[in-house]
Amino acid sequence: MSARTSPTEAFEKIPTFIFDDAPSAAAALAAEVRDLIVKRKAEGRPVVLGLATGSTPVPFYRELIRLHREEGLSFAEVITFNLDEYYGLSRDHRESYFRFMQEQLFSHIDLKPENIHLPDGTVPLDGVFAHCAAYEAAIEAAGGVDIQVLGIGRTGHIGFNEPGSSKDSLTRLLPLDIVTRQDAAADFLREENVPRFAITMGVGTILRARKLVMMAWGGNKAEIAAKAIEGPETEAVSASFLQSHADARCFLDRGASGALTRVRLPWLVGRAEWTPAETRRAVLWLALTEKKPVLKLRDGEYNEHGMAELVTRYGNAYHLNIEVFNRQQQTITGWPGGKPNADDTSRPERAAPFPKTVLILAPEPQDDVLGMGGTMERLVSQGHDVHVCYMTGGDLRITDAEAIRFARVLLETSEQDPERWKEQIGYAGGILEEIEVKGPFGDPPARLRRLKALIRRGEARDAAISLGVKPGQIRFLDLPFYTEGRYRQFRLGAADVTAVGSVLATLRPHQIYITGNLADPSSVQGLAFAAFRSAWEARAGQPWREQCRVWLYRGQQSEYGPHEIQMAIPMSPDQLTHKLHAVQKFQSHTLPELLDGERNRDLARLYDSLGTAEYEAIEAFRRWVE
Ligand code: GLP
Repeated sequence: MSARTSPTEAFEKIPTFIFDDAPSAAAALAAEVRDLIVKRKAEGRPVVLGLATGSTPVPFYRELIRLHREEGLSFAEVITFNLDEYYGLSRDHRESYFRFMQEQLFSHIDLKPENIHLPDGTVPLDGVFAHCAAYEAAIEAAGGVDIQVLGIGRTGHIGFNEPGSSKDSLTRLLPLDIVTRQDAAADFLREENVPRFAITMGVGTILRARKLVMMAWGGNKAEIAAKAIEGPETEAVSASFLQSHADARCFLDRGASGALTRVRLPWLVGRAEWTPAETRRAVLWLALTEKKPVLKLRDGEYNEHGMAELVTRYGNAYHLNIEVFNRQQQTITGWPGGKPNADDTSRPERAAPFPKTVLILAPEPQDDVLGMGGTMERLVSQGHDVHVCYMTGGDLRITDAEAIRFARVLLETSEQDPERWKEQIGYAGGILEEIEVKGPFGDPPARLRRLKALIRRGEARDAAISLGVKPGQIRFLDLPFYTEGRYRQFRLGAADVTAVGSVLATLRPHQIYITGNLADPSSVQGLAFAAFRSAWEARAGQPWREQCRVWLYRGQQSEYGPHEIQMAIPMSPDQLTHKLHAVQKFQSHTLPELLDGERNRDLARLYDSLGTAEYEAIEAFRRWVE
């Protein structure tokens, strides 16, 4: 953990702690809770915990369960109040927060059922007001919340206090923001299914807790966390109200801390070390801020932005500019696998060996094509031995309607010769029946998930083949954390790591491409990366591994900043069109915002604005070092 040091305070208005990863942050918080429980036990007083849902607190709950099981921590004297509940969902609904808490925490520890409190999503409308008032009264009667745990939604909400919630708001029913409903769409399979209302503790209710700890993991949360921590206190970001609480803290992992000033612009808080990476970041930032190509930046502009010391180190702006410009220019290469027989001293990838064995790992089908479709095609056409490995089936993204369509085709073709196709008829009919029985929100049975995964598999195969990958070099791992799990609740196991490890051991690649390292650790991409990482670490010292380079691509996440890029693969207009055709093979689910190739064009425009060569589109990579 990097403790907070003085110069950052100017920007950070909530004491903020950056941890290496979510589990270590969760362990720190759980230890604090344990100490309080132990202390109160000695005093004969209960502890009142304020709990949250979503994927963020899951590592914290896992640690509490561990403390209970392995260290005998008892929750018998603990009282809990949850922040919120979807309105209209019964307690046993698959997505109700009540059920979530049961599954993630309550059923694994010795909390007394009468000490558990959540708003009730089923109270009739005319009873909501009284129900909310009673919830407030119950918190007060319990003595108030000792430690309130919080996540943050991408709208900046705590609990479900959407933008516009006032600082003194109390427990109430309120409509959910469109962004919140989009974020929950995966849980409910589609946005229309997400409840429109929720009952939530108010901002005022939350602020009455004696201690508040807000947690956030992964790059997706970086922008909103920085707004809450550094921005003005405002109803537009209800988490910003933590700024005026006497004992509020933020626990972030590296990904979620990415937009804080101390991380993004360390020279502004007197934290610059002027490493080569930081120098590059500062110069490119200045060029973008001043809207000038790098080579046109002047001494005066550096001085005005707190970078006088940096310029002095280089003598003058010219020398600094040229160095960073050259480095940026050298990231561009048309040879992602290295250019054979060429001088590779300043190229991103080595010339030898040639051809290389390349392993592309896609956490979900489509990550590969979205993130690096153009590069895949180049690697193949330049003669490398390219293998694509889909780590999960991606079926959770597929609606029942898709499965129904496939089952019906199978049924109708089979019915033309019912004697011969008896089994198929049984299978297809069974699928249709399962969908009917489970309804829109029921847990999908394994057989249905398998069919959906096969639909996705077909699309992934078509896309990879259209980019030149040989059918025999496409693998589907179906990692168990995904096949057996569901959103926000995936759990990585040894079998996942073993499966990834065996691909590494079989192929012994010279290059690996993967995404997800700074993603939300509970997301499919985050877990898939963790599985890869463990498999990789387990092979330390093996000769092939010492020769292997790991390149990170961005998949569905927003693109790298220019300073982060170590390899930029340019694409011609035709190459981009070809990539987009491959993306379109994913008919059962696609991300409309990524279908037009604008992200790759934007990156090319960015390179152009920095003064490097002008291309139609670019795909970006970063080298991963442990
Ligand atoms: C929901 C919950 C919030 C939670 C947010 C973020 O909106 N009501 O309490 O903080 O989701 O969810 P996640 O932790 O899954 O990112």
